[in-house]
Amino acid sequence: MTIISDESSFYPRLFKQAENLLGTELDAIANMANLSSLLFMEMERLNWAGFYLAQDGQLVLGPFQGNPACVRIELGTGVCGTAAASGNPQVIANVHDFPGHIACDAASNSELVIPLCDSQGLVGVLDLDSPDLGRFTEADLQGLMPITQLLSQSDFSFLRR
Ligand code: SME
Repeated sequence: MTIISDESSFYPRLFKQAENLLGTELDAIANMANLSSLLFMEMERLNWAGFYLAQDGQLVLGPFQGNPACVRIELGTGVCGTAAASGNPQVIANVHDFPGHIACDAASNSELVIPLCDSQGLVGVLDLDSPDLGRFTEADLQGLMPITQLLSQSDFSFLRR
């Protein structure tokens, strides 16, 4: 018997789960905490999933799952800071080839970072790390973008006070 694993349904299902999890909740910290947990539980071959928040010209560690991580990252530095400063998602097959990569966990070999925005601009980034080289593809990026966009409805006003 052949078992057909339908990879194309993975991200639509994950999106539905994320949508149900966030519901009508506006609290950004609670929503990021739940999303980091969902991604860490559901995606294979991750060793870190979480958020950095844009505060006073830096990225500051937010809700995450995985090992303790570096707290502050300068905009423009490392994979996260590059995504935040440029507004461009980063899909990095081998982080050791990325100039200025910040090694929070020596086990991380590949990384995917997506900038997060609300109606007023950048609020932070989603950061996923994997111990496997080349873990993340364009399909992962396309699948995760709508999930991160669910956060644009959350209340990030505390970042601008
Ligand atoms: N590697 C990241 C730093 C954050 S940790 O991976 C959790 C970077 O270069 O921005």
